[in-house]
This record gives sequence, C-alpha cells and structure tokens, in this order.
Amino acid sequence: MTANAQQGSSAADTTFSLTDNATSETIELPVISGSLGPDVVDIRKFYGGTGKFTYDPGFTSTGSCESKITYIDGDQGVLLHRGYAIDELAENSDFLEVSYLLLYGELPSAGQKKEFDATITEHTMVHEQINYLFRGFRRDAHPMAVLIGVVGALAAFYHDTTDIQDSRQRMIASHRLIAKMPTIAAMAHKYAIGQPFVYPRNDLSYSENFLHMLFAVPCEDYEINPVQSEAMDRILILHADHEQNASTSTVRLAGSSGANPYACIAAGIATLWGPAHGGANEAVVHMLDEIGSVDRIPECLAKAKDKDDPFRLMGFGHRVYKNYDPRAKVLHKTCHEVLNDLGLDNEMLDIARELERIALEDDYFVERKLYPNVDFYSGIILQALGIPTHLFTVIFALARTVGWIAQWNEMIEDPHQKIGRPRQLYTGERQRSYVALDRR
Ligand code: CMC
Repeated sequence: MTANAQQGSSAADTTFSLTDNATSETIELPVISGSLGPDVVDIRKFYGGTGKFTYDPGFTSTGSCESKITYIDGDQGVLLHRGYAIDELAENSDFLEVSYLLLYGELPSAGQKKEFDATITEHTMVHEQINYLFRGFRRDAHPMAVLIGVVGALAAFYHDTTDIQDSRQRMIASHRLIAKMPTIAAMAHKYAIGQPFVYPRNDLSYSENFLHMLFAVPCEDYEINPVQSEAMDRILILHADHEQNASTSTVRLAGSSGANPYACIAAGIATLWGPAHGGANEAVVHMLDEIGSVDRIPECLAKAKDKDDPFRLMGFGHRVYKNYDPRAKVLHKTCHEVLNDLGLDNEMLDIARELERIALEDDYFVERKLYPNVDFYSGIILQALGIPTHLFTVIFALARTVGWIAQWNEMIEDPHQKIGRPRQLYTGERQRSYVALDRR
C-alpha cells in the first residue's frame, strides 16, 4: 500500500488516501485535527472499505479516543492538564485543586474549592466492614495486591453508586474513590507492619491526612512536617494524569463494557503494578541500591546497553517523552529541597545524579532519546519521607485515581463511545480435524 495526504472535501479539512498496490484500489480516509498535536487519520471505515485490519501492537500509532483532559508533547517535554502546564500546577496548586481541574475542566473559584475539599473530606472513612476484609490477606502480601482486592471490593460496599448511566452516582463514586484511596493505601501499610489502622482526620489537608494515617500511632502524637507534606502533595500532582497510558487505557477499556467504576479502577491498579509502568519507581530504588557506589555505574550502564541482557536502566526512557520528562524536572528540584530540609546526606542521590550525568552524555542513550522519567527521582523522595519501597506504586495509584476517574467519566459521556474490541493478525493453525486421544 502507498499513502499520501491531500486536501479533500470531506467534513475534515484533509483526507488521507491509501492505495492497495495489489489491487490498485484507493480508499480516502478523513483526517481530523485536534486543538494541539498531530492530526489523526480516521480509520473507522477502513475495514468496511478494504476488508483489512490495521496492525499496531502496543498502539504506537493509534489514537483510541478523543479527550480534552491532558496533552503531552513528548518531543518538547510538555505536559498540560486542561491547558495548564504541569510545572505551574506543581508550583502553585494543590492536589485537590488539580483533581477538581481534571474532573470538571476548569480551576475552581475559592467557593468551589472550599466545597470540593469539604466533599472529598466527608468521604475519607471507609465502611467499617472493610477492616475485616483486610484481615483475609497475608500480612506479607504486596500492598498493590491488597489494593487491587480492596478497591475492587468497594462495589460490594457502595452499591448505590454503580449505575454508570446516572451522572450523580458517577460523581459520588468519583468523589468516594479520590477520598478513600489514601485511607485504603494507609490501611494496607498498617496491616503489613502489624500496627492498628489510623482513622482519617478531616481537619488536615489531603496530603497531611495521608501522612498522618501512614505514620501516626495511637500511643503518641504525630507531628506533620510541612516540607514533607508539600513534597507528598507535589508527587501526587505530578502523577495525577498522563493521558492514554497503559493503566488509563485499561480503565477506559474495562469501562467501555459498562463495568462499575470500582471494578474499572481496580483494573487500572493491576496494570499500573507492572515494572514497565508504575512499578518503575520501586525498581529505581532497588537498582540504585544494587549499584551501591558511584564507581559501579559503568558496569550498570554496560548491562543496560547489552542486547543479550534484559536489564534496563530503570527510570529512563518513555514511550511518549523523547526529551526530559517535565515531571522529572520538578521532582529533581523537590528532591533537593526534601533532602536539605531533612538534613540527609543521601548516597543514593549521589549515585542517581552521576548516573543521569553519564547516561545523558552516552551515545546509546542520546541516540535513543532516553531521558530520566518521573520515576527516577520520585523513589528517592519517597524513601527520604520514610515511605517503604513496596508502597511507592501504591502512592502512584492513589494519585492516578483522579486521572483514571476523570478519563472514565469523559468516556461515558462521549457520544462516540463503543465497547473496546481490537482485532488481530491470526497466525495460528488453520481449521483441522480433531484427533482422538489414542491416536496422538
Ligand atoms: N534502558 C536501556 N535501554 C532502553 C531503555 C532503558 N531504560 N528504555 C528503552 N531502551 C532501548 C530499547 O532497548 C530499544 O533499543 P533498540 O532500539 O536498540 O532495540 C530503544 O531504547 C527503544 O525502546 P522501546 O522498548 O522500543 O521503547 P518503549 O516506548 O516501548 O518503552 C519504556 C518505554 C518506558 C517501557 C522503556 O523505556 C523502559 O522499559 N524504561 C524503564 C522502565 C521505566 O522507567 N518505566 C517508567 C515509565 S514512566 C512512568 C509511567 O508513565 O508509567
């Protein structure tokens, strides 16, 4: 097939014509322009017109939906939520304000912000019976496994918000998920270390309350350090949404069948757990730990470049960013602030900085445009805040819940929404006759 773009007279400004070299038949496909980013070729009529499917494993060239929430320019290293740059949001906003922005499309007025904060705060407690659900898990379970189970089970506790056609129920479910994720995440931690669950405190901000539920114990006061709660808030803002990544696409796909929001978010959490996605921040800390000292960096880089070795430099590279991840830039700065405030002389940060410096000059990484991503520094910050490594991805899930839920709501309201059902290139056996067991 040969392809060329040309001006056309369809509803879109241009059409894209594809010619099948075998039959010389040509199909004209509409080209649609968004407000930013590359145009898309609308292939919805491609199969009907040609009897052929397109093939795109990993969806590297495929847009799966229309969205107004988040825009990424991977070449320039730009990330916008509803048009606002991530670094401006991280500098000036707080997590609940960003959550409002993602959900409703605009920054809230002072009154709207107060009301939204109060609404989320009202939903921070979980059904008391959930305490008993936790007791069914082994204490040494990975908290992501627990999170998937408990969030999926929320549909069994909050039946009144599972009718996805009712916009009011959808919004209450959205508020509940944003409000209850820190409580569930902190419970997973407390359960793992054998401490009593700490109930939420509604006089605290979202991030302060999360730190309180993680670290307070009934026998003494827990004082919140504002530098630490601000760093936590910034980490949550930077992970809040990232357009159609693997977990968000999973949430949309699960939701496209009409599944309830709690089930969809549990599916998103399951996808996020993988080391190529949300599990990378945990993997970065393990990697830096394993490197151990600056003089072992060349050995690690050689392993990452060796095609016969599956090892990859964790916290480097991104499907979309072919430039420095803008979130990593913000976290680089936050990392220094937190370590200075805590008076920590962090050897891990020294190794990270040196690794970054050398990798950014190395031909292998330069040619492939492999830059540090958000996970490169977030793990070091979380560790400095006293967060155990196995909770890193849980915190990513907590933050991303608002992005998932905003995308899920947008999908349900989209008049073009259909159940997600990709096709395949089948390369298995053609039809053959069954062979009886005694003749095989
Ligand atoms: N270390 C060494 N080589 C790498 C790395 C890396 N971290 N990432 C990519 N490459 C190489 C890869 O081997 C390939 O080389 P070649 O062209 O010679 O075969 C080339 O770069 C392109 O890689 P790819 O696998 O085609 O790229 P992708 O877009 O499919 O993968 C990625 C993106 C993030 C999965 C990958 O870069 C990776 O595994 N990075 C490490 C894990 C990580 O940090 N993940 C967090 C992503 S950011 C958080 C999030 O948004 O979820």
